[in-house]
Amino acid sequence: MKLVRVSLLAALTLGACRVSDNTNNSEGPKTAEATVAPILTTPDAQDLHSYARPREARVTHVALDLSLDFETKRLGGTATLDIDRKADAKEIVLDDNGLEIQSVVDASKQPLPYKVGANDQYRGSPLTIALKPDTKRIVITYKSAPDASALLWLSPEQTAGKKAPFMFSQGESINNRSWIPTQDSPAIRQSWEAAIHVPAGTTVVMSAPRIEQPITQGGESVFNFRMDHSVAPYMIAIAAGDLAFKSLGNRTGVWAEPATINAAANELVDTEKMVAAAEKLYGPYRWGRYDVIVLPPSFPFGGMENPNMTFLTPTFIAGDKSLVSLVAHELAHSWSGNLATNATWNDFWLNEGMTTYAERRIVEELYGKKVADEQVALGVDALDKAVASNGGPGGGDTRLHLDLKGRSADDGTSDIAYEKGAAFLRTIEANVGRERFDAWLKGWFDRHAFQPVTSAIFLADLRQNLIKGDKALEQKLMLDDWVYKPGVPSNLVRPAAAVFAEQDKASTALAGGGTAPQAWANWTTDERLRFLNRLPRKLPKPRLDALQAAYDLNGTQNLEVRFAWLDLAVGSRYDPAVPSLEQFLTSQGRGKFVRPLFKALAKDVQWGRPIAARIYPKARPLYHPLVGRDLDKLGLQTVGKPTPK
Ligand code: BES
Ligand code: ZN
Repeated sequence: MKLVRVSLLAALTLGACRVSDNTNNSEGPKTAEATVAPILTTPDAQDLHSYARPREARVTHVALDLSLDFETKRLGGTATLDIDRKADAKEIVLDDNGLEIQSVVDASKQPLPYKVGANDQYRGSPLTIALKPDTKRIVITYKSAPDASALLWLSPEQTAGKKAPFMFSQGESINNRSWIPTQDSPAIRQSWEAAIHVPAGTTVVMSAPRIEQPITQGGESVFNFRMDHSVAPYMIAIAAGDLAFKSLGNRTGVWAEPATINAAANELVDTEKMVAAAEKLYGPYRWGRYDVIVLPPSFPFGGMENPNMTFLTPTFIAGDKSLVSLVAHELAHSWSGNLATNATWNDFWLNEGMTTYAERRIVEELYGKKVADEQVALGVDALDKAVASNGGPGGGDTRLHLDLKGRSADDGTSDIAYEKGAAFLRTIEANVGRERFDAWLKGWFDRHAFQPVTSAIFLADLRQNLIKGDKALEQKLMLDDWVYKPGVPSNLVRPAAAVFAEQDKASTALAGGGTAPQAWANWTTDERLRFLNRLPRKLPKPRLDALQAAYDLNGTQNLEVRFAWLDLAVGSRYDPAVPSLEQFLTSQGRGKFVRPLFKALAKDVQWGRPIAARIYPKARPLYHPLVGRDLDKLGLQTVGKPTPK
């Protein structure tokens, strides 16, 4: 194979060839999307959260033909896998978590022996399939289990419209192995296609272009999708239910339940402009259309960057577009994450830190520097908080590059990845200047489009293409400290105190016994958040009464502001907020909101725990397994008797 020109990076990506012995990998990085994406072979690219051994045999394409059954809560049918293998490979190892496998055959329908290994709490099970010397295609007939961790099945009552059932998936980090038998590692990119059979009247969307109009016959509709780019398997996503569509521009549109579509479309009017702003910064949008779907309130995240189809919580709909930086974030993943993808969950910061940085750049393009500066400052607040809650400046999990050996893949999803990552890039930008940094970042996405990346590849690329041997600059940037050491290096560029001077002054005054500031009425959502977040957690009742009387925080429909208020109320044991808290916890299931509130309540044995124990059984059915299974550990269902209201 020819590796001329690729120099430094080649050393890190050796093995970037197909695993078949006879393949000539003469294509340069430019054509990577047309070939099988590279398998990285350095130790830091070893994915500890997958059983796959891709250097022996790897999946290159997944074709799903699945029926969706709302009654039994199962997706069932076949997964046809194209594989690339060493000639002497005896088996291929896939990832599985609770799949009910009926048969495994080859292209000529001959059975292939297979074995499901022991289940490990963090990875699921290996599914090992014996290969014949000429096996290039495998057909697995299977069903997902009703409690598959990626899937949420909602009854009609749990939707906004209350009429039809709904289901959706969440693949990241390693949940797709609960409904797709494949090699579920972000380092093993695969193209894919799907035919999904549903009861007529149900609409299906996936994270890929729809290749033809749905066909309806005999009470059943079939939807067909195809993703020609190679993507990380966590990016395969599905949602099905009663869905309406509204166009937002030439290449953008929104899907949502009919009950939500108008509010969603109004909030999202800037989407087309966002794509244009992102392209200006980071180069062409390579995925065709950019659509979003606004899911029922059980969606466990703010958003998920599924290619072609960002999944969004309805809780970003504030009525004034003040929370749409969420969309900028998910859109930015179309470059950071979906083009250049963390090879392992140890380098999650490469997905999220870069995206958080890019999100604020897009926000600046659309809404101006003041708005972006405020969001940067809130980000630094979140970073300080994340350092404190991850063991302080010496805490191991405050490193960007993590070692998640023997731990959950999701252990690395703290604000360290998002905010230390973003702060790192901002620090580099401040040192080299915006123009130079932007050019490098755009180049990074080009050089690594449709490929897995690691911290080492990131640093090598920076040194090769930005620092270029400038010793003084290298020293100033403290690159290795940022990536490999705990805490935050001393060269962090902190936002100016002036950004939130007015809010900070008002916070201090209120905490000292002052009145609720009148200026609130003119403050933006971000300014209100800073004000609330800066108040001491144990605020006396008269101060909280004053805030409630002045701004009706119990009733605010801006759910970020409501969360900040409820967090303060719970910390301060403020009884008049409890009905609002109950309504909040039983009407949406966004992990970022419900997790910390239930955790804080449960910890407060005298005041909070009985409240949590009363609310949790009502709230639990709404929550996605990814959130619910975590909160179940608080033992709230079994604690005492419900306390009277
Ligand atoms: N990719 C993440 C969501 C995610 C993270 C899924 C970890 C599974 C594991 C998504 O892009 C994200 O970061 N969402 C944020 C919103 C964002 C504005 C910070 C969220 O959901 O809160
Ligand atoms: Zn993200």
